[in-house]
Amino acid sequence: MAKELLRIEHLSAGIEEKEILHDINLKMNYGEVHVIMGPNGSGKSTLVNVIMNNPQYQVNGGDIFLDGESILELSTDKRARKGIFMSFQTPMEVSGVSVENFIRTAKSTIEDKNIPILKFRKSLEKEMDQLSMDHSYADRYLNQGFSGGEMKKNEILQMLMLQPKLAILDETDSGLDVDATKIVSEGIERFLSRGNAVLIITHHRELVRSVVPDVVHVIMDGSIVKEGDHTLINKIESEGFHWIREEVK
Ligand SMILES: Nc1ncnc2c1ncn2[C@@H]1O[C@H](COP(=O)(O)OP(=O)(O)OP(=O)(O)O)[C@@H](O)[C@H]1O
Ligand SMILES: [Mg+2]
Repeated sequence: MAKELLRIEHLSAGIEEKEILHDINLKMNYGEVHVIMGPNGSGKSTLVNVIMNNPQYQVNGGDIFLDGESILELSTDKRARKGIFMSFQTPMEVSGVSVENFIRTAKSTIEDKNIPILKFRKSLEKEMDQLSMDHSYADRYLNQGFSGGEMKKNEILQMLMLQPKLAILDETDSGLDVDATKIVSEGIERFLSRGNAVLIITHHRELVRSVVPDVVHVIMDGSIVKEGDHTLINKIESEGFHWIREEVK
């Protein structure tokens, strides 16, 4: 039977001045791919920020469970150690820290053990080969001067190296070329084949072409207003959100 990984129950959250998310319910099992779609400003990034405990946001009600345990009281750091990984819609540049050091430090912090440098470099280069990334990227400062597509690949590299239970990808839709889209999409597939789960926030179907999502959730004005299978993505791409808005009226 499918094992539950993440459960969000009656979650309401926002910033001090206003509530952005209202009564969100969402359940994900190990091995599943879920997609969140929704118009700009509907609350998708807010939701992932709340899952990671970004201090900008406050929870007004409800709960978030990982492996059946509430994580609401845990810091971002502890949530990462429990196995949640999040990519940012706008990745930060980190000056003075190489890609290799960043990932190795994150991995040794999360796994709470020292990771031998040479062994790590070897496995990093193996993943980089599969993502068609030149090894020189490992020595570059994180995201500094990276193109949109390179940042995306770098995120997938982090995800593959850190092996979180749950990876949350908040898409930039920053125009991955056809080959890069395929490579990234295959990276997600490799990640999933190890039994992990992915939550993808996206406006387009490109990234989930080779991985068929199990559930698609649609957020509008801070509420989940529709859920369905992967065919919902095509319908939204061709018809937009208008018909869903009409349905929930
Ligand atoms: N820190 C904040 N301060 C003020 N308003 C915020 C903050 N964070 C989010 N909001 C507002 O909450 C709403 C939801 O924003 P959010 O970033 O979650 O949207 P989104 O669904 O991710 O949109 P997009 O598709 O454009 O990425 C928006 O109206 C946004 O302006
Ligand atoms: Mg967003």
